[in-house]
Amino acid sequence: MSDDPVFPFPSNGPIPRHVAVIMDGNGRWAAERGLPRHEGHWEGMKAVREVIEGSLEAGIEILTLFAFSTENWQRPEEEIEALMTLLKIYVEQEQAELRERGIEVRVLGDLGRMDEEARAAVDRIQSVTSGGAELRLNLMISYSGRADIVRAARELARKVAAGELTPEQIDDRAFSEALYTGALPDPDLLIRTSAEFRISNFMLWQLAYTEFHITPCLWPDFTRRELFSAVAEYQRRERRFGRVSAP
Ligand code: FPP
Repeated sequence: MSDDPVFPFPSNGPIPRHVAVIMDGNGRWAAERGLPRHEGHWEGMKAVREVIEGSLEAGIEILTLFAFSTENWQRPEEEIEALMTLLKIYVEQEQAELRERGIEVRVLGDLGRMDEEARAAVDRIQSVTSGGAELRLNLMISYSGRADIVRAARELARKVAAGELTPEQIDDRAFSEALYTGALPDPDLLIRTSAEFRISNFMLWQLAYTEFHITPCLWPDFTRRELFSAVAEYQRRERRFGRVSAP
């Protein structure tokens, strides 16, 4: 038996069904080594592999990764290009294994802003991995929480205008289902790397009662040990959902 209480994964409490991650610190990781920023993103892609492996081992059902925000379109052209190239490489390199491991990938966000090749890569990974039942992996790309909410509001308004829905039928559930994450349960645990205490316009609606774990670890250094220690901390929390005790 390991004398490390955290590694392998903690099994003395509930495993979060849905874990969301703000993968931050790629640029700082590269800067610390005197490398260009894209090298940090490249290493970050390896950490994506690691968090997927860890999620499978821990029995997490849904993993949502914030890979590119709406605001990231304002980064220098060459960095955007490097990230889009990375996405295409990721799809080429990983699609077969993701399928074999039973991982269903969905890419969520305003994909209309991506170039044709990147959109083709998204279509490919979604169709190749469709039906995977071991883990649902959401890659949030060209995504922001406010844009998600605005889009859902428009969608519901359109239905009301078309007479398909009454305003009274718009409740928590109808609103949730109109978001990119649809009928998926909200994240139980949000992990943010690189010690930033911000939500950065991520899943603003869905994180209402999510537990937060913020670690100084920069994303390229993130390993399954970090994931398991976040889960262990989650298991020590009492989730009350606004009540005086857990439901
Ligand atoms: C934040 O670090 C990270 C990003 C904007 C990109 C995230 C992308 C990856 C982890 C790799 C690609 C993954 C897939 C699945 C294709 P930052 O650049 O904001 O870092 P900084 O705050 O230190 O500058």
